[in-house]
Amino acid sequence: MARRAVSVAVVALALLAAATAASADSWLYEKFTTDGNVRADYNAEGQQVTSLILNQQSGGAFRSRQRYLYGEFSIQMKLIPGNSAGTVTSFYLTSGDGDGHDEIDMEFMGNSSGDPVVLNTNVWANGDGKKEHQFYLWFDPAADFHTYTIIWNDKNVIFKVDDLFIRSFKRYRDLPYPGGKPMSVHATLWDGSYWATQQGKVKVDWSNSPFVVSYRGYTADACVPTGGGDVGAPLSCPAGTDRWMNRQLDAAEWGTVAWAKKNYMHYNYCDDGWRFPQGFPAECSRN
Ligand SMILES: *[C@@H]1O[C@H](CO)[C@@H](O)[C@H](O)[C@H]1NC(C)=O
Repeated sequence: MARRAVSVAVVALALLAAATAASADSWLYEKFTTDGNVRADYNAEGQQVTSLILNQQSGGAFRSRQRYLYGEFSIQMKLIPGNSAGTVTSFYLTSGDGDGHDEIDMEFMGNSSGDPVVLNTNVWANGDGKKEHQFYLWFDPAADFHTYTIIWNDKNVIFKVDDLFIRSFKRYRDLPYPGGKPMSVHATLWDGSYWATQQGKVKVDWSNSPFVVSYRGYTADACVPTGGGDVGAPLSCPAGTDRWMNRQLDAAEWGTVAWAKKNYMHYNYCDDGWRFPQGFPAECSRN
């Protein structure tokens, strides 16, 4: 009798622990819709880990049910180990697929075993998105989870890797900026063979598939337009929004941007004269 009571209590405790863990960190189906090959598991700490899987038939994706206008968006990712050439893994915001769309990208372009993955950051305003800063990383992004953060407010778009800021894209009143259209949050894994690795020279090697990327610890501290998503509609913002709403880099943080630029930059659109025969975009000569 006593023995039975103990085992019932143990089972009850285990169920309670599982339920608590799930509600504490069960972000995928609550906040996103999914497409293609997506799997949600829990790790030993009760943290939800979402995997996107790419095989020859399909990739995987999740997109937020909610659209946001300004916020801080963060996720931990563990990228594809080994030969990931031709694959593209992303975490980004977009207002949609239309011609004049806005978008803020963090995209990882895979590479052959032993060669570095490139992180592409980009900002699109009204359909114009030739604003890439690309970086090598100072760690192996497939060995462990690292945190990737986008801060988006009406002053700048800031990109952060773990605790280090790598880019700030400033708003200039007279230049295009993603400020008018609410955006949803997306994560994708797809075959980008035609452009991802060394301008498309290196394709996906399907003998290594399936390719798996893991995401965990998603947070969106962000404002939601309350008027059905219209531009200029009143916003409902979380408490303490000033954490990121007025966030700009301080001198020390500009220092980490300079460090990343000096040591890890792979491509800067403002240095690519061949691409802009008519002259560089105006923001290239400001700052
Ligand atoms: C892959 O590795 C090669 C060789 O180190 C490098 O030139 C290239 O920029 C890397 N990244 C991509 C996305 O091709």
